[in-house]
Amino acid sequence: MTVPFSVKLALGEGAPARVRAAIDAGADAITLSDTISGIAVDPSSGEVRLAGAYSGAGIKPLVLAEIFALRRQGIAIPVLGSGGVQEASDVVEYLSVGAHAVQVYTALHKDMHETLKSIRDGVEAWLRARHLTVADVRGRSLR
Ligand SMILES: Cc1cc2nc3c(=O)[nH]c(=O)nc-3n(C[C@H](O)[C@H](O)[C@H](O)COP(=O)(O)O)c2cc1C
Repeated sequence: MTVPFSVKLALGEGAPARVRAAIDAGADAITLSDTISGIAVDPSSGEVRLAGAYSGAGIKPLVLAEIFALRRQGIAIPVLGSGGVQEASDVVEYLSVGAHAVQVYTALHKDMHETLKSIRDGVEAWLRARHLTVADVRGRSLR
């Protein structure tokens, strides 16, 4: 039995080379992105208040740009977009730059099942209203 697997990578230095290394090693898909490093600093004292994984809406433009760039470079492997998906339009953006699917994490911290259902129903309604399929939308920013 063969089980397809996706290698999850974080944005950052050398991301295209890391994607290529994963493909060379046999990855069936790539997930972009894991969290990226972030810190918060207390402006009055300079003390680092929070240090660690940064996720959510703030990373979405960065992940979109990386997927867009990978597609522009001809990397055709399925990509799962992860970063800041909280509503249907975010999914449409990821599909448009060439993602095959998306993942949701941070947005699920609030009303998990309702949020997921609202994203899924929203995408279905968006597509239906325009008589489009996922395949129609995927990669349209690149055409
Ligand atoms: C607190 C926290 C824990 C996470 N743990 C994992 C993990 O165990 N495995 C993993 O693949 N990704 C993990 N992630 C990354 C998320 O799955 C996701 O890729 C990332 O947060 C970007 O998506 P989002 O903006 O929807 O959260 C974690 C993220 C956060 C914020």
